[in-house]
Amino acid sequence: MKNAKNKSQKGFNSITSQDTFNKEMRAFPHTLPIYTTSTFIYESPEIAQQIFGRKVDGFAYSRFSHPNAQLVEEKLEKMETFGLDIKAKALLFSSGMTAITNLFQSLLRPGDCVIAQGNIYGTSVDFFSHFTEVYKMEVVYADFKNTDEIEALLKSKKNVKLLYCETPSNPTISCYDLNALGKLAAKYKVKLAVDSTFASPYLQQPLKYGADFVIHSATKYLNGHGTALGGILVGRDYEFMNNKVWKNRKITGGICSAFDSWQLNNGMKTLSLRMDKHSSNSLTVAKYLQTHPAVKAVHYLGLKDHPDHALAKKQMKNFGGVLAFDLKDGYKAGNKLMKKIKFCHLTASLGTIDTLLQHPASMSHSFVSKEQREKYGITDGLVRMSVGIEDAIDIIQDLEQALK
Ligand SMILES: Cc1ncc(COP(=O)(O)O)c(C=O)c1O
Repeated sequence: MKNAKNKSQKGFNSITSQDTFNKEMRAFPHTLPIYTTSTFIYESPEIAQQIFGRKVDGFAYSRFSHPNAQLVEEKLEKMETFGLDIKAKALLFSSGMTAITNLFQSLLRPGDCVIAQGNIYGTSVDFFSHFTEVYKMEVVYADFKNTDEIEALLKSKKNVKLLYCETPSNPTISCYDLNALGKLAAKYKVKLAVDSTFASPYLQQPLKYGADFVIHSATKYLNGHGTALGGILVGRDYEFMNNKVWKNRKITGGICSAFDSWQLNNGMKTLSLRMDKHSSNSLTVAKYLQTHPAVKAVHYLGLKDHPDHALAKKQMKNFGGVLAFDLKDGYKAGNKLMKKIKFCHLTASLGTIDTLLQHPASMSHSFVSKEQREKYGITDGLVRMSVGIEDAIDIIQDLEQALK
């Protein structure tokens, strides 16, 4: 695939697979080594002063930046703006949550309001509650399918600074209209942040639709192997990212470690191959589940009868690797399935090369009241599945024996 606008720009897969860095030595390493160093030796005090003042390129101290994080950031900038005429800036953090918290700390001030989608990642909601209390800010939840509701809020509240969206999102794998949200943000001069973790930069580019910020829990598809924690924030406003957010990360110490950055870079090299395989396997598994007598409903964006299928087709390259299904016999059936799976793994994460299952009602959302769970489609029989890149037949055979 090569559809970059600029002829000198490399193709998406060339960007992810090759490490370009300063090759000063006669024989240099094939891949960027892990810089297990907290600090860097400066050539002279004058150079040190320039590096600390960010007047010249160079590394001052690994909490500020280091070569392994920088390499990942440079790739992410190219991936999120691939084929677009935008000069974005990416920063790598120690986790997805650190990327989100640094965005809020850099952008918002006491009295500001955020309009957020109701069904976002649970810890993001936890953070919003904590943040509003500590920093005297307001977070208002809205149905992001209903742009009239958001527009009414934007008209009535003059302190809104940010729209916060997650697409595709948990638990029923819904998709939100990035084009409509981008237009709304521009009309009311507020920023739009999109958590694009479930899609990865290969399947979806929110900047294309007017988003100001893109967030990824790099722990998921970008790493792909469950070997590292990381978070990405990509911003359209280069100066804001390079000054405000960079400084916030420096002060709070939220940068990703060299080892995790290195793992992340390795994983990213096969991103497109994995995402295509995750997508094709998911469709096969989703179609199988639709025929199973124990299953009431299957939620996968790639299925033509999913309510968001057409929208996903418009704004995503493929439908991704996460699906959910509802078991007819509710809680007991969900719990039983978790006990019986052998080949697939029972764990709450997603985006790894192997297949992961979890039952929100008895696991991740067991502390949430049944009434609140059902408001967001987390029924007692709902099972979430992150479909891996194994042979689909083995995943199906495991489900077949576990659903008996
Ligand atoms: C959509 C989404 N955003 C953010 C996060 C937080 O990422 P991390 O666990 O890397 O902090 C997660 C984690 O599961 C997630 O699923």
